[in-house]
Amino acid sequence: MTTRLIVFASGTGSNFEALATYFAGRRDVSLVALVCDHKAAPVLAKAKAAHVPTIVIDYRAYPTKAAAETALVAQLPEADGLVLAGFMRIIGPTLLAAFPDRIINLHPALLPSFPGRAGIADAFEYGVTVTGVTVHFVDAGIDSGRIIAQEPVRIRPDDTLATLETRIHDVEHQLLPTTVDHLIEKGVF
Ligand code: GRF
Repeated sequence: MTTRLIVFASGTGSNFEALATYFAGRRDVSLVALVCDHKAAPVLAKAKAAHVPTIVIDYRAYPTKAAAETALVAQLPEADGLVLAGFMRIIGPTLLAAFPDRIINLHPALLPSFPGRAGIADAFEYGVTVTGVTVHFVDAGIDSGRIIAQEPVRIRPDDTLATLETRIHDVEHQLLPTTVDHLIEKGVF
C-alpha cells in the first residue's frame, strides 16, 4: 500500500526538497501534490524538478478563507496526510475537517515557546540558550496542536540570527522526514 502525502509550502521549499529527497525511490510513499499560496514561490520549481504535481491557490481571489479552502479541497488528490512545511497560513475549519488528525506542521522553535511566524528570531532576540524544532499536529489554534517530535538546538554565544537559522534549518531537514516516516510506520497517515 502506498501512503499518499500532500505537502503545503509558501516560499523557499528547502523542507519540501528534504522530504522529496528522503522519500525518493520509496515505493510505499508518494508525494502526490505540492500546494503553494504564492505563484512565484521558489518551492514550485523544486516540486517540478521532483516531478510532484503543483496546485497554486490564491487566497485573495476568494471572499473568505472557508471559500478558498473549499475550492482547494475540491482540487486536492486523494491523500492520507497533509504536511505543512513552511506554509505561512493558519488552517481553517474546512481543511481541518477534510483531514481530521492528519495534518502536521513544522515549527522552527521548541513549542509551546515562540509560536507564530518568527519562531527563530523571537527565540534569538529573547536570549534563550536552547531553542529547536517541533513537529506537531495541526488544530484550530496557532502552533498549538499536540506535539509529535522535538529536537533542541543550542544557541551559542557567538551565534548571529543567520548562523542560528542555518542550524535550525539543518535540523528541520532531518526531523521532518524522519517524523513523517515514523507516523507512516505507526499507521497515523
Ligand atoms: C521553516 O523554517 C519552517 O519551520 C517555517 O518556515 C520555514 C520554511 O522554510 N515555518 P523552507 O520554505 O522549507 O525552506
